[in-house]
Amino acid sequence: MISATKTALIAGLMAGASLSAPALAQNAPVRSAPAQSAGASASAATSPSSQARADALVKQMTLEEKLQLVHGFFPPLAKPAVPIAMIPSAGHIPGIPRLGIPTLRESDASLGVANQIEQRKGDVATALPASIATAATFNPKLAYEGGAMIGAEARAKTFNVLLAGGVNLTRDPWNGRNFEYLGEDPLLAGVMVGQHIKGVQSNHIVSTIKHFALNSQETGRTVLDARIGTAELRESDLLAFQLGIESGNPASVMCAYNKVNGDYACENDWLLNKVLKQDWAYKGWVMSDWGAVHSTEKAAINGLDQDSGQELDDQMFFDAKFAEAVTAGRIPMARLDDMVRRILFGVIDSGLMDNPVPESAQQIDYAAHAEVAQRAAEEGIVLLKNQGDLLPLARTAKKIVLIGAHADVGVLSGGGSSQVRSVGGAPVEIPLTKGAAASFARITWHASSPLKAIQALAPGASVTYVDGSDPKAAAAAAKGADMALVFAWAWRTEAQDPESMALPDNQDALIEAVAGANKKTLVVVEAGGPVLMPWVSRVPAILQAWYPGQRGGEAIANILFGAVDPSGRLPMTFPVGIDQAPRPQPLGLAELHAAEARRSAGDKTVYGMSGGVASFPVDYPEGADVGYRWYAAKNEKPLFPFGFGLTYTSFRYANLKVSGGARLTVAFDVTNSGKREGADVPQLYVEAKSAAGTSAYRLAGFEKVWLKPGETRHVSLTVDPRVIARFDNAAPGWIVDAGAYRLRIGHFAGDAALEGAANLDRVTARP
Ligand code: BGC
Repeated sequence: MISATKTALIAGLMAGASLSAPALAQNAPVRSAPAQSAGASASAATSPSSQARADALVKQMTLEEKLQLVHGFFPPLAKPAVPIAMIPSAGHIPGIPRLGIPTLRESDASLGVANQIEQRKGDVATALPASIATAATFNPKLAYEGGAMIGAEARAKTFNVLLAGGVNLTRDPWNGRNFEYLGEDPLLAGVMVGQHIKGVQSNHIVSTIKHFALNSQETGRTVLDARIGTAELRESDLLAFQLGIESGNPASVMCAYNKVNGDYACENDWLLNKVLKQDWAYKGWVMSDWGAVHSTEKAAINGLDQDSGQELDDQMFFDAKFAEAVTAGRIPMARLDDMVRRILFGVIDSGLMDNPVPESAQQIDYAAHAEVAQRAAEEGIVLLKNQGDLLPLARTAKKIVLIGAHADVGVLSGGGSSQVRSVGGAPVEIPLTKGAAASFARITWHASSPLKAIQALAPGASVTYVDGSDPKAAAAAAKGADMALVFAWAWRTEAQDPESMALPDNQDALIEAVAGANKKTLVVVEAGGPVLMPWVSRVPAILQAWYPGQRGGEAIANILFGAVDPSGRLPMTFPVGIDQAPRPQPLGLAELHAAEARRSAGDKTVYGMSGGVASFPVDYPEGADVGYRWYAAKNEKPLFPFGFGLTYTSFRYANLKVSGGARLTVAFDVTNSGKREGADVPQLYVEAKSAAGTSAYRLAGFEKVWLKPGETRHVSLTVDPRVIARFDNAAPGWIVDAGAYRLRIGHFAGDAALEGAANLDRVTARP
């Protein structure tokens, strides 16, 4: 039995396990595969030929070869030693050369080719902003471009499976992994993840979509039982997956650590066989999360196709035990064939089979790729407050003071398996002393200096930095400056949830002190989601920069000076206080603390993927009313609503035209009524009934439009019926009830710039 966590194992790596990273830091004179344009997917959606080819291959395979494909190795632990020279990474599955089946080389993930705790010394990659920032762009094209870019880097580094596509909905604003995901709305998240995956796979490599499903908090993620009505789950988290799978066509789906309604996600018949494979007719393969497998027969029969990083499970369920179960007939040969066929279908349909990755690392055009990261950061930054039009900053400013968050050298990133070692390195890295992420995450800054970027844009000004550790000294430095910029930071990571959403390290006092000394105080927040802002009324301007990636400093500076108009919109609701959210704190903290106490008392049994935490339920009584829908249902006014974001210009909507019947189409005009060019994101909200009988406005369409001053654009949005339907388990399927529906066009959730109604026919759709 393996009694060590994945995290401890990675820590072992750091302690000096021998790692060879063949040719990774070298520059072979070949450029990375060019990104294709949006729309040109490498995979043919449901290509019958991929299916036929997979079938033909299965027929040629020996039993041993089939068994080889259904379990993957975690390289640091694999015994016998890894059969080929593997690059240290998340995992691999040896190929079958005689049939041209490639070795699968897996790497994380959505923000760039990850290299946690620098397990591959010196191997850098381009770091996109956090996925939540990409979601905030509301621009599917940027999601595609980011995916295409990181997919190209993965291929150039000889990886062919990118564990990307994180799309768990933000149910709780404090979830440690929110930064890796795409916000709280199924339509926005589903559209964005689909484009991201399409971009990754345009490089003829495999992308996952993950974590299927309801891995909505990190506390006790490997043991908790997420409980929710199945119809409500279809209308929320599963809808995001469904839309993402339809448009992105990922070759693989990664099942989650947690249980869903009583069964682990990776052995959950309802989730894997019924919803994914039967209802959605998904043809690719289900791979487990790392250490998420708990059985052999049950997992295989209930839909798991491949055990990833098998050494991390409590037992190696898909190795010898699996072979024995097949031989004894407890797992039918037909099921093994199905598992293998699905893996091969994904490998063929993504284009990987016909376009193997290079044998050694290729040169990457990092300069071009940095531009992709910068565009996403610039469009994802959200201007939350701009009283008295303090921004954009005049280039004639004489004195600007930057305070805190290491803004002299870099910008913060989120931690965990998604951590990219970015081009330029990590100017600040703070090791953790405790917590579940301690052994595989460090608080890491990317080398993109806001200070330098601001100096470059205001060459005539004195631009200085103080570290903010002493609020009094910071206030003194801010006094008399044309502008004081406080950089606030809140680090988030995989494997841990914060117990409080307040800014750490006395930063609230710092902001109050600086705001007291200088009326022109702007706060730039680097965080994976909302933080508590007790000072919100005392500062005139706030910029939500998320974790802005390796060009974050430049992006922030461009927004501040108006070189770029802010056009990001919040993909999640920002609460006034934590008691406004459905769950003020992560559930399971008591169980977590009990395990920690036993561990510090020397209890040696507190190991394994569970970390010694006893299973506990997490109920989601809000059902499909996630995020802004919850606030609407409870009649609560958040601090900043979903969809909100200011610009340096203004937009007006007019001429609403609604066409109902079988398909809702809504058209209207958007006019830039301000004096500067800018981008707007008009949003259509439709009041719909959910399976639970609640009714709330649902985002039913959005579009990003760029307009010159005075320019008008006609926008027409056609609504996918499932977004406004209720899911009926008895039907089973989607039902749009006939009748009148109220709708609004707004700048954010709850806004009603234009109001109308539509008469819709009864429409049903298959699950
Ligand atoms: C994470 C996944 C990741 C995998 C491989 C797991 O702990 O939950 O998102 O892809 O590790 O690193």
